[in-house]
Formats: sequence, C-alpha cells, structure tokens
Amino acid sequence: MVNARRLRSQDWFDNPDNPAMTALYIERYMNGGVTREELQSGKPIIGIAQTGSDLSPCNRHHLGLAQRVRDGIREMGGIAFEFPVHPIHEMGKRPTAALDRNLAYLGLVEVLYGYPLDGVVLTTGCDKTTPACVMAAATVNIPAIVLSGGPMLNGWLKGERIGSGTIIWKAREMLAAGEIDEAEFTELIASSAPSPGHCNTMGTATTMNSLAETLGMSLPGSAAIPAPHRDRGRVAYLTGRRIVEMVHDDLKPSDILTRDAFENAIVVNSAIGGSTNAPVHVNAIARHIGVDLAIEEWETIGHRIPLLVDMQPAGRFLGEEFHRAGGVPAVVHELMRHGLIHEDALTVNGRTIGDNCRDTVSEDPEVIRGFDDPIVESAGFIVLSGNLFDSAILKTSVISAEFRDRYLSDPEHPNVFVGRAIVFDGPEDYHARIDDPSLEIDERCILFIRGVGPIGYPGSAEVVNMQPPAALIERGVHSLPCVGDGRQSGTSGSPSILNASPEAAVGGGLALLRTNDAVRIDLNQGRADMLVPDDELAERRKERGDVPVPESQTPWQEIQRSMVGQLADGMVLEPAVKHQRVVQTHGT
Ligand code: FES
Ligand code: MG
Repeated sequence: MVNARRLRSQDWFDNPDNPAMTALYIERYMNGGVTREELQSGKPIIGIAQTGSDLSPCNRHHLGLAQRVRDGIREMGGIAFEFPVHPIHEMGKRPTAALDRNLAYLGLVEVLYGYPLDGVVLTTGCDKTTPACVMAAATVNIPAIVLSGGPMLNGWLKGERIGSGTIIWKAREMLAAGEIDEAEFTELIASSAPSPGHCNTMGTATTMNSLAETLGMSLPGSAAIPAPHRDRGRVAYLTGRRIVEMVHDDLKPSDILTRDAFENAIVVNSAIGGSTNAPVHVNAIARHIGVDLAIEEWETIGHRIPLLVDMQPAGRFLGEEFHRAGGVPAVVHELMRHGLIHEDALTVNGRTIGDNCRDTVSEDPEVIRGFDDPIVESAGFIVLSGNLFDSAILKTSVISAEFRDRYLSDPEHPNVFVGRAIVFDGPEDYHARIDDPSLEIDERCILFIRGVGPIGYPGSAEVVNMQPPAALIERGVHSLPCVGDGRQSGTSGSPSILNASPEAAVGGGLALLRTNDAVRIDLNQGRADMLVPDDELAERRKERGDVPVPESQTPWQEIQRSMVGQLADGMVLEPAVKHQRVVQTHGT
C-alpha cells in the first residue's frame, strides 16, 4: 500500500525542490540493492534499531529475529533499514550500564531524526536497552513499536529454579557463610543462564519490557514470550507488519504515551513486583514525551496495589511460568476487573489496552494470582523523605518475614525503627571496611552508602543492597537495613531505601550523616531522618568537605555529569528535555 500522505523519507528520496541532493541520497542507498523505483514510490522506510551484538548477549538473538521483522515489513509494502544502537550490557559495561542509557538515547535520537526513516522497530531486552529506545522514540515522535527479545529459559540446579541475577545475591551469601566453595559458586551462577534472552527473573529487563507493553508500545502478550520460543519469531514478523500500518495511520508515541498509560504502568509495576529501577526509567520516558509524573506518584498510585505475580526475586517462579500463565495481559485483566486500569489507553495495535486484555484470564492462578489470593497486599513502593533526602523509594514486596520481625514489629511502634548509622563513601570504601571490627556492626545498625548517585558515581551504581559483615551472616543475620543515593539491581530481593535524591555529591542530606548518628525510619509517615539537631546539621553543612567521588575516566562520564538530573526525575540529560517531539507530522 502506498501512502496517501507525504512521508518524511520522501524529503530525502523524492524531493523536487532539491534534485541534486535527492540524486545523491538515492545513488548511495541504491548500492545496497534497493531500486530507485522502490525508494521513490512512497513506501514507508522502517528502521530496525538493532540492540543485539556480541557485546550485548542478552539481546544478541535480535540479530536473527530481525529477519522476521524484515519479512513483516516487506510483506506490508515497507522497506527495512537495519542499523546498530550503542550496545548496553548490564553485566559487561564498566563502571555501570546505566551510564550508557542516556548515551544510547542520544545516539538513537540522532539516527531517527537525521536519516530517512518513517517509523522504527525498537529491539529491546537487557535492562537499559528498553528505556533508552523508548526515550528516543518519545523525543523524536515518529511511529515506533517495541519488540522485546524475551527472557531466557528457566535456570535449574538440582531440581530448583535458579533465577538469573537473583541467584548472585544468594550465592554471595552462601560463599560468605562458607556453605559453598568458589567452584560451586560459579556453577550455581552459570546454571541460571541456560539460553539466549534477558534475565528470567522479574528484574529490570522483564520489568521494563512488561511496562513497555503496558504503556502500549508493544503488541499485547509479547513481552513475556521466552527468547527461544517459536512465538518470538511470530511476534517479530507481526511487529514488522504492524509498524508499516502505524506509519500509514500516523500512530505516534505521543498518541500512546499519555498520562493514563503511565498510571497504568505504575499499577502494573506493583502487581508484577517490578524493579526499583522502573521509576527511574519510566519517569525518564515521561519527561521525554512531556507527561508530568512525580516520584511521589509511585506511592500514591502504586502502593495499594497487591502483588499478583509470583516471580523471583519477590516470589518463586521465572519467565517460562509467567508466559504460560498469560503474561502482562493476564495481569492487566485482573487489575481491570477491579477498576485499576485506564482501559481507554491506546496501544500500538490500534486498539485500547482494555480491548486487548478483556478476555485474557490467568491460565495458572498460582503464578498470576487473583485479587482474593495476592502474594502481598499493598505491594507497591513507599516514597520516603526527611532530612536525609527529598525522596527515596522502598520496594515493600520484598520485605522478608525475618526483616519484618527484626525491624518493623516493635509492638509500640510498628513499622518504625531507630538504628545506628554506618556510613560508607562508595563501594570501594564499603568493601574495605565492612568487616572492620572497630565499627561494631550489629543487628541494630543501618548501612548507608553515598557518593553513588548519577553524578557521584557516574551513571549511579547498583550497590545499595549491601551484605552485612560475614560475622553477622554466620550468626544468621542475612540483611541489615540499607540506605543510599545509588540504585540496586532489579534482581535483588533486598528491601533497601534507595535512589535517594538529591544525592550526596550535590549536597543532599546524606552528605551530612556521620557514622554512629542515630537514624529513624518511619514507614507509617514515610520519613527518614538523622536524629541530629538542626543547629548541629547547620554546622556540619558549613564545614562539609565534598563527598569523595571518583574522577571521570572517559569524556562521556565528564559530559553526562555536567548535565544529568537526579534519579527521582529520571536521571535524564536535562538539556534534552526541551527537545520533546522534534519531528512534527508532515502534511498531506
Ligand atoms: Fe541483561 Fe539481566 S543482564 S537482562
Ligand atoms: Mg542491573
């Protein structure tokens, strides 16, 4: 089908006002074997934003899936142009993959804006690849559809499900307690990753792909399909077909990424037990499309929602069971039955989320539960504030019974605890001193880590879930309360208070805290305060030296530090925000 509207790619390939440049564009793109007639016939030109590579193993199978995307594009009369996206691999990139989310975003914006593309298929998977791609599509606002790569198959060892990412935290504890040796440690971790795909737990990858689907940016039911499953190829083909139709319909991210869609994402994040990185990435997408979304709304909208999906790290199962039970549509269906979803929000298939999910009941009520049988009630984030920071989040669905008994069950003050602060300046300081006996760390201590926010540790480090000293683990204390201005892995089951904003490196309250200060955390009031008199804090602020932070190692670290915002605001490049929706729709 040839488009009735003039497409933006025709400014390159069919521009009577500039025949010389048109000829130049055509001769060079023809050398790939495309004919002049194809380029000038008004067929939509569809980018395939390729995030897979040998450096990005979680997304590598997109290199093969792209062929099925091409098949779909071609069949609907489009022309596919595949191009690489800056690689982001969560476990391979130093100092942290989060540093590159905004770099991949910037690069993709330039490609989408500067080349003859009418629409784009965004191949997503590993944690930051999904937000980077959707953020760029939000800024440029050409028709865009997400194709996730899907999770790995379940990991198994000795009859037990081993979740990628999540097993690392458990294995480290076992190693520290002397229960396993180094060889068993490696075997345990390797057993969690048995196939292509992204992490099979409800870590940041599954969370962000589930939320991209909830936002309406991918075909319904597609996020949960395991990477090696035949339905992955089928959905790749259907995604290719659909993007061509979206170009004809001029269905853009701004039609889909509405305030209602973001509220749906917050609700679904609670119900799936989503990652603590979700607010950072979802708020970033909101900023780039121009929807107001405050960090506090993750609590006001999301806290009362029950945990319905029994998946690690909050629960037991992994990606295969989530898919078999119905994936995102089955979760949305259950939330819809209780009036918690804006059903009119539009999705990439041209239908509303309500229409997409009305008939998709859970196929396995043990994995995707009903409201009458939730895993945890009121399972969303709590957003705390106080003299330590303006905001920080706590994932309530991972508070264990052991933790609740020890810290939150004082009969006179339930959900309140007061502890002695142990303060570390960055992960190196933590590793050097955590077992230092002179700190006298015991059950009543709260571990703090600072200098690890977006500016302090460029990109913000995933280090807040700190392990207690080995001596405490041996005594059976598996977690202490942890607080910090960095992040933690979405695969961690630690109930840390994290993403504290503003960070210590820009003068947030954490910078004034000292080891042995008393700190009071009150989950009822949503407060976190150092019990230090105001005049003493004023003194400390006067004499405060800078929180020690590492030097920038690369030009990008330096550049990002000079213009990045705080975690609560999505950690976006602030100057980028004014360029929302840079591509306007071309006239007919
Ligand atoms: Fe890539 Fe977990 S490391 S998805
Ligand atoms: Mg991570």
